[in-house]
Amino acid sequence: MQSKTVSDLLNQDILLQEVEVKGWVRTFRANRFIALNDGSTINNIQCVVDFENFDEALLKRITTGAAIYIKGDLVESQGKGQTVEIQVKELDVLGDSDPETYPIQPKKHSFEFLRENAHLRTRTSTFSAVMRLRSALSFAIHKYFNENGFYYMHAPIITGSDAEGAGEMFQVTSLNVADTPKTDDGKIDYTQDFFGKETNLTVSGQLEAETYAMSLGKVYTFGPTFRAENSNTSRHLAEFWMIEPEVAFMDLAGNMDLAEDFLKSVINYVLENNKEDLEFLDKRLAEEDKKKPQVERSPMGLIEKLNFVIENNFKRVSYTEAIDILRNSKPNKKKKFKYIIDEWGADLQSEHERFLVEKHFKCPVILFDYPANIKAFYMRLNDDGKTVRAMDILFPGIGEIVGGAQREERLEVLKEKMAAIDIPEKDLWWYLDLRKFGTAVHSGFGLGFERLVMFATGMSNIRDVIPFPRTPQNAEF
Ligand code: 4AD
Ligand code: MG
Repeated sequence: MQSKTVSDLLNQDILLQEVEVKGWVRTFRANRFIALNDGSTINNIQCVVDFENFDEALLKRITTGAAIYIKGDLVESQGKGQTVEIQVKELDVLGDSDPETYPIQPKKHSFEFLRENAHLRTRTSTFSAVMRLRSALSFAIHKYFNENGFYYMHAPIITGSDAEGAGEMFQVTSLNVADTPKTDDGKIDYTQDFFGKETNLTVSGQLEAETYAMSLGKVYTFGPTFRAENSNTSRHLAEFWMIEPEVAFMDLAGNMDLAEDFLKSVINYVLENNKEDLEFLDKRLAEEDKKKPQVERSPMGLIEKLNFVIENNFKRVSYTEAIDILRNSKPNKKKKFKYIIDEWGADLQSEHERFLVEKHFKCPVILFDYPANIKAFYMRLNDDGKTVRAMDILFPGIGEIVGGAQREERLEVLKEKMAAIDIPEKDLWWYLDLRKFGTAVHSGFGLGFERLVMFATGMSNIRDVIPFPRTPQNAEF
């Protein structure tokens, strides 16, 4: 007899048969009812023990967190709250869990506490639901691209180039940092380093993905990216996962269409395939919201919000229009924004993005045609000479979820833009080659995976949607 998962058993319609199951005890009530979970579903299976028939010493070892084996009959449940339950005939404790020291007790723990116990937090309903959704979303992403003719490309993790030109990189070296070799002019001699040059962890796979788009046509990357930006916010990680499609012969309008269709498709996937987890998280969010002051509450429930996103068109707005809206907005006039918008050219902060999405348009927004000097060097310059074909997608409760652009495909313009911000041509000779040999219009974007998981789960801190978050001063586990 094969041991089944709790999910299998709860969906089983042949009752009165003997089953085996293994899992971890969530609770043991009245020396009789074990709530057992094995991670296969948000739901526990109730296992009913006739304590008269079992050794007391054994029953004492059925504590929260213990791993157990159960054999028994699957029967229609007598009690409320479940349809089936197991009438236990055999019971074995596979791994004890000392109730005095096991951190995850059957009560409400704060997310801060659970972060400190991130190795055990997926034993809770909330975190198991979040991580099952994370898994489903990554599957949905691969499925979408696979069904739409994209090739999955693995961009390098260690790189010699700074794709975003923001200088927020973690260095990779095998030199002894306490005693680095020096050149004659006293600088670190990287010719003696492992790669014979300075290298870093990648901030984006885009530049390498462009080389593949310009040969395979439609590609995407999905991998870890690293940023040493010291922003200790609820939306930033030092290590996060990014999805970056890149498509030859596609312009900015096509890029927006792709991003919108893609986001709707993956959200629709979890709505169809992860109902129970979403229902649980929907309730959780509603309860959390009840404790907040009215103004901070989300206007929609989680599932309602996900449905809203797939059913409505994203609003496409130029940067220039957005600046006008912001300049004339109440919080700007009343100086409620931390950063007051007074002129065209200002960079948008998350408070402005969230105002546009949550207060003004009340739907996802795609902002495009940003000023050239607040965006990366590789973006296609518009004919006005001052804006670039950039696009950011802003989501309610999240702010920027996607950043992308049509790429500068003209060699001379690209060289000028690089020179203006001192990127040496020799560092990106291969990137320039794409503009020398068979150049063409092409575009792509980057989706921050954890921001998508936040949106789909209703979690409000990015540290709670990645297994082991890396943030300033924190790399435990
Ligand atoms: O806007 P970004 O910096 O764009 C790029 O890296 C481009 N190379 C993408 C491309 O066109 N192929 O980052 C893309 C997305 C952001 O919109 C955000 O969702 C996420 O990545 N992101 C972060 N997520 C978590 N923590 C951070 N520190 C993030 N920085 C960016
Ligand atoms: Mg961005």
